[in-house]
Amino acid sequence: MMAPETAPIAAAAGPHIPDLLTRIERRLGEIASAYPAPLSGWASGTIAAGGKRLRPLLVLVAAGPAAGWRDASGDGLVRAGVAVELVHSATLVHDDVLDAAALRRGQPTVWASAGRRAAIATGDALFADAFAELVRSRDAPQVRALSRAGSALAEGELLQREDAWDTGVAVERYLHRCELKTARLFEAACTLGVLDATGDEGLAAALTEFGRRIGLAFQLLDDVLDVSGPAERTGKHRGTDLLDGTVTLPLLLARERDPALAALDLRTVTTPEQAEALCDAIAACGALEAARSQALDLVTGAKAQLPDGLPVSQRLALDLVADGVVARYA
Ligand code: IPE
Ligand code: IPE
Ligand code: MG
Ligand code: MG
Repeated sequence: MMAPETAPIAAAAGPHIPDLLTRIERRLGEIASAYPAPLSGWASGTIAAGGKRLRPLLVLVAAGPAAGWRDASGDGLVRAGVAVELVHSATLVHDDVLDAAALRRGQPTVWASAGRRAAIATGDALFADAFAELVRSRDAPQVRALSRAGSALAEGELLQREDAWDTGVAVERYLHRCELKTARLFEAACTLGVLDATGDEGLAAALTEFGRRIGLAFQLLDDVLDVSGPAERTGKHRGTDLLDGTVTLPLLLARERDPALAALDLRTVTTPEQAEALCDAIAACGALEAARSQALDLVTGAKAQLPDGLPVSQRLALDLVADGVVARYA
């Protein structure tokens, strides 16, 4: 079933989208369930828990109207969408180990329910299969684009660990982390969509920049959601970043506004109750609105730089995807 957030986007982009999303979903399920037990259980659980499937949708929207595709079957786009979602899911499973996160997509994480080794193995398997799937399209530039995003993700996660507990970290450094950790995969989703559908490198460059900007905005808003919650809505516990020493934009901006927060040693925040209280203090000084406004500017810029002359349905769908990133917070 299509996530409710994606339905209007699919409606705008064209009647081919729901069918492609269904094919992507089916293939994801096939891949996850084909592993031997117990790997299949962990992988299938991760995939079946859902998720917004935003990145596969971005692949499809970047591909434009079906009439312009080189291969009318859409098989390559399905493979690209599957590959991007597998990389995403693999990195989430690993991310939950790094972040010691208990909840993901409303379910206990593989790390919490089956342990570190299980989570590392599950992420590795999903990651490997992403490339096994994509390579079937025999398009080296696509494989290269996804592989670069995967490496950037690893680098971003590493930088984030290096910066742990450092409340004095520069905003530029934080943004660089978000770029590596999140924006590059959004970029890759757009690149793969254009390369597979039309192979137009000029268009790929413009849409890649669109993906980069909305990806950055997406991470900024995810970091806002970590403070604002609630878990029933995000599928993740509130304050997970703070408890884990991950310093994000809301805390950086709050420190500029509230001297008590500027003086706080994050290592003293050790219980979920303390993290909740810190979330409340960050919200009280207006830092969430300030962070959100930076994300909105990125989204506005992403839309504004799209090339003139895109098919109307594609332009509308891209605008809706960009707006959807922001709506996640509203
Ligand atoms: C979570 O991504 C990881 C970030 C980059 C913030 P999503 O919020 O897209 O996760 P799912 O796929 O919908 O669960
Ligand atoms: C994004 O960062 C994680 C990846 C890109 C793998 P977060 O750590 O903020 O993502 P969530 O909040 O756990 O989904
Ligand atoms: Mg995390
Ligand atoms: Mg987060």
